[in-house]
Amino acid sequence: MKEHRTVLIIDFGSQYTQLIARRVREAGIYSRILPCTCTADQIREAKPDAIILSGGPDDVGEPGAPTLHPVVLELGVPVLGICYGMQLLAHTLGGELGVSHTREYGRATLAPQANCGLWQGIGEKEFTVWMSHGNTVTKMPQGFTATACTKDLPLAAMADEARKIYAVQFHPEVHHTENGTCMIQNFLFRIAGLEKDWTMTSFIDTAIAQAKAQAGNSNVVLGLSGGIDSTVVAALLHKAIGPQLHCIFVDTGLMRHNEAEEVVAAFKKYMPGLNLHHVKAQDLFLGRLAGVENPEEKRKIIGHSFIEVFDKEAHSIENVAFLAQGTVYPDVIESYSAKGVVIKSHHNVGGLPETMKLSLIEPLRELFKDEVRAVGLELGLPEELVWRHPFPGPGLAIRVLGAVSEERLATLRLADHIVQQELRSTGWYRKVWQGFAVLLPLQTVGVMGDARTYENVVALRIVNSVDAMTADWARLPDDVLDRISSRIISEVKGINRVVYDISSKPPSTIEWE
Ligand code: XMP
Repeated sequence: MKEHRTVLIIDFGSQYTQLIARRVREAGIYSRILPCTCTADQIREAKPDAIILSGGPDDVGEPGAPTLHPVVLELGVPVLGICYGMQLLAHTLGGELGVSHTREYGRATLAPQANCGLWQGIGEKEFTVWMSHGNTVTKMPQGFTATACTKDLPLAAMADEARKIYAVQFHPEVHHTENGTCMIQNFLFRIAGLEKDWTMTSFIDTAIAQAKAQAGNSNVVLGLSGGIDSTVVAALLHKAIGPQLHCIFVDTGLMRHNEAEEVVAAFKKYMPGLNLHHVKAQDLFLGRLAGVENPEEKRKIIGHSFIEVFDKEAHSIENVAFLAQGTVYPDVIESYSAKGVVIKSHHNVGGLPETMKLSLIEPLRELFKDEVRAVGLELGLPEELVWRHPFPGPGLAIRVLGAVSEERLATLRLADHIVQQELRSTGWYRKVWQGFAVLLPLQTVGVMGDARTYENVVALRIVNSVDAMTADWARLPDDVLDRISSRIISEVKGINRVVYDISSKPPSTIEWE
């Protein structure tokens, strides 16, 4: 199987580590992240062609602060240290650090001072960079030259060009840094001499070959949700192992307007011949949820019921040895903190692996979300599947606040359908992370014609986000909001008021329950 070039990123705990990895991949080079507690063998086994040391929150040299593994410098590959990474290089190679008299956070103006490989094509003019430092390098190690400064920082960058070791105190991976992409590309292509070989086509070829080899003659089950990750896994495995793949779609009765029908129709259309087990379990789910108001209890009931239904269906299929999952790279990285401690173990269909004793096939575990979308498009999936907004596993049950009933679900479905229609027709669907309606468990007074009404409230939750860890409410134009509100109040029976949620995450969350 073809091996691709690899840039190894050693994570010292910076909030921007994933961003570094993405910038490298965007340049067409495969990157992977290892926590700074990794072993020398893990670093060697990664066979890096270049290494980037991330920033981090610690103070270099303090007790307990992460240190630099000697193997990083012994391998002889180009190294780029960013922020903490720069200070660590200086400290390890015999330079000195000090507390800067002026701390710089945010934008700073960088003046390139020396003809350095990182600045090729950028010129000698000053430009804006994103800086965050308390400590700074005060004396460079032997062999290094100062390559840039700012008003408050004489040593904002340094390099030992002979050994191909580069260090910057600012963050080239952050969008606010001008020429950041150019610097990273200079490091990859001009300094490390790498050639682009990370494309989604090459990924698909490798992933198909791996899945075939892994599955052998056994059958594989996959839980389909209609979401992007499981859809792309299905398309990839359908291509790789065809009839050995069995997709199970559990219809919980908690999907959006016409969603179950649309998902099933799309799968039949775009993956003809796919083994699709459509399990209609609405009665079971709604029966168990009847009268339950507590959000956590709702989630637990739905989670357990899902496993029960999935398990039963999977047992009706012969010769199953594998469970396929849509785990993506951020899930893998989030399972470890930079210091190597497992924070949360991720699996998309909670608890299934233990109960079913199946081995996992996770073909997307190397990919970021934007890469998953690119693979989906490359495999011929349509935009409407590839660009669907995320939808929570417990479905509309956590958007009908309080007790869930068929009637309240039907009301929410109609209101939400209007939100989806308007977002799509105005072009806002693709611009926001997620947009949906929430049915509140309260009634308010209104007036319709000459009559007083006492009816339900719908809240609109429309947010921008990059990874759902943080989110901000979307500034939709007045006329779009106006149309959504007027349509919901006139077309959905039982709703006489629409409100817009203007809370950000944190401290709020995206979903209301
Ligand atoms: P919160 O509400 O935590 O949501 O800000 C963050 C993102 O995750 C989705 N979400 C879920 N997805 N199972 C899922 O598969 C869940 O239980 C769940 N809860 C929230 C939510 O829609 C948002 O995109």
